Amino acid sequence: MAFFLLLLLLLLFLLSSLTPHSDATISMRIGVNLGQLGDNIPAPARSIELIRRLRAKAVKIYDANATVLSAVSGTGLRVSVMLPNELIPSISSNQSLADAWISSQILPFYPKARIRYLLVGNEILSNYSLSNSTWPQLVPAMVNLKRSLRSHSIHNIKIGTTLAMDALNVSFPPSAGSFRADIDQSVIVPLLRFLKSTNSFYFVDIYPYFAWASNPSFIDLDYALFEGKPSKYYTDPGSGLLYTNLFEQQLDAVFAAMTRLGFGGVPIFIAETGWPNGGDLDQIGANIFNAATYNRNLVRRLSQKPPIGTPSRPGMVIPAMIFALYNENMKGGPGTERHWGLLYPNGTGVYPVDLTGRTPESAYPPLPAATNNAPYKGKIWCVLDEEKKGVDEKAVAAALTYACGQGNGTCDAIGKGRECFRPNTVAAHANYAFNSYWQQFRTTGGTCFFGGLAVQTAKDPSYGSCKFPA
Ligand SMILES: *[C@@H]1O[C@H](CO)[C@@H](O)[C@H](O)[C@H]1NC(C)=O
Ligand SMILES: *[C@@H]1O[C@H](CO)[C@@H](O)[C@H](O)[C@H]1NC(C)=O
Ligand SMILES: *[C@@H]1O[C@H](CO)[C@@H](O)[C@H](O)[C@H]1NC(C)=O
Ligand SMILES: *[C@@H]1O[C@H](CO)[C@@H](O)[C@H](O)[C@H]1NC(C)=O
Ligand SMILES: *[C@@H]1O[C@H](CO)[C@@H](O)[C@H](O)[C@H]1NC(C)=O
Ligand SMILES: *[C@@H]1O[C@H](CO)[C@@H](O)[C@H](O)[C@H]1NC(C)=O
Ligand SMILES: *[C@@H]1O[C@H](CO)[C@@H](O)[C@H](O)[C@H]1NC(C)=O
Repeated sequence: MAFFLLLLLLLLFLLSSLTPHSDATISMRIGVNLGQLGDNIPAPARSIELIRRLRAKAVKIYDANATVLSAVSGTGLRVSVMLPNELIPSISSNQSLADAWISSQILPFYPKARIRYLLVGNEILSNYSLSNSTWPQLVPAMVNLKRSLRSHSIHNIKIGTTLAMDALNVSFPPSAGSFRADIDQSVIVPLLRFLKSTNSFYFVDIYPYFAWASNPSFIDLDYALFEGKPSKYYTDPGSGLLYTNLFEQQLDAVFAAMTRLGFGGVPIFIAETGWPNGGDLDQIGANIFNAATYNRNLVRRLSQKPPIGTPSRPGMVIPAMIFALYNENMKGGPGTERHWGLLYPNGTGVYPVDLTGRTPESAYPPLPAATNNAPYKGKIWCVLDEEKKGVDEKAVAAALTYACGQGNGTCDAIGKGRECFRPNTVAAHANYAFNSYWQQFRTTGGTCFFGGLAVQTAKDPSYGSCKFPA
């Protein structure tokens, strides 16, 4: 069995090295995702300038924003644009809508903007509320868009869609990788057939950080950061292949899943990867040291000549887009969500990084030491961010009302005459209510965010007879 698998992998490797992708992509391995979910980030022209300064070769956006496409025109950067999830059903059922979208969103900028990838939807197979309305429409929409491009004789824009790792049901050991049963025949097979016949890529968002952070006692941090010692390497019992890092292990799980369906020759494009440079107190391993280490090692590895590939696809070119250009302060969810940036919104690097991968580690200045690589042990409270007090009283009042409307007895203690009533200010009451809310809901996914008004603290905010739960 193992011999057969090895033979199969060898065959696939030979086949994959014959596919026509390598030449087209070898000069552009590393790009950056330009997310714009911040109220303080620079205009597109400045963002494009900053991307070029990082020596990225490509940029990916989450729409087909005209200002961005104008700004990127003539720069030589390759561009990946996205068709929003909501448009998939109508575009799949109506060719003239597909034509209209291409005409209005792409043609005005192409070819001056070097648009090379059109991604149809973002991680739609992770959103089960789209299972009836959108999943079955994905490939038909891709077909219609391809037809529109061909009608304009455009042949160098590849069409794909981004998928998260949760498209897989099994990802460990990597040789056992397989897709979820609810999508494998209905969506994935037609998708892979389309990608194969159009010489496109399987675009995957891959985050070793999440795999490690959800299981830090089982997975070695250094292995997740491409710094694993040989004693921490992993040998896949199914294939006999040796893994030196978590990234390639996850990637090979995807390759194995595709191979299982008969499409092992479709190449992979990393649509997103990265590591958070900060986060909440209770989030492990999100810091500048780890983020810099991961991203620098990633780009060095992916930029090697000749290409390294993965253990199951040795020598294969793996293009990648790092997530993201900026820390984006308007993203909801836990604190890490707002800390994926290579840059602060003012354009200053969170840490230096050369996206050509040519700078050796020794040429970078020292990094701040990591302080949160082990789980946080102490108590944590969720309070109103000091900096937001008095800044946005209306928003604080609205958040207070929201918090008090959730859970059981959330705001009893700030009621008139009760122990936390005084000081009787919106800010003091919000301080109490945010924490009371969060303590009830944190284990079920409730976050300490409130639109950016709340922060975690290790300092007990209780005073007098007013006790804050923890
Ligand atoms: C395009 O991006 C710019 C800059 O972020 C923004 O101001 C503008 O509203 C966007 N355009 C559309 C149509 O979303
Ligand atoms: C397709 O879209 C066009 C443009 O909006 C519209 O005129 C036409 O009626 C639509 N066709 C169908 C079958 O819905
Ligand atoms: C899933 O799709 C629905 C419908 O478009 C949307 O409202 C919701 O925000 C999506 N969920 C996530 C987690 O993106
Ligand atoms: C999809 O359709 C099935 C069968 O009609 C139904 O049971 C299910 O609730 C629907 N799911 C969603 C998310 O609409
Ligand atoms: C995942 O794999 C297990 C074991 O093969 C199987 O029992 C289960 O039904 C699968 N689930 C999905 C969603 O594919
Ligand atoms: C940019 O923002 C960061 C983080 O807020 C700050 O540390 C840095 O000093 C700022 N740089 C400049 C040039 O203002
Ligand atoms: C509130 O109380 C109800 C009934 O006792 C319980 O089912 C629910 O889980 C409680 N909610 C929270 C957030 O504790």
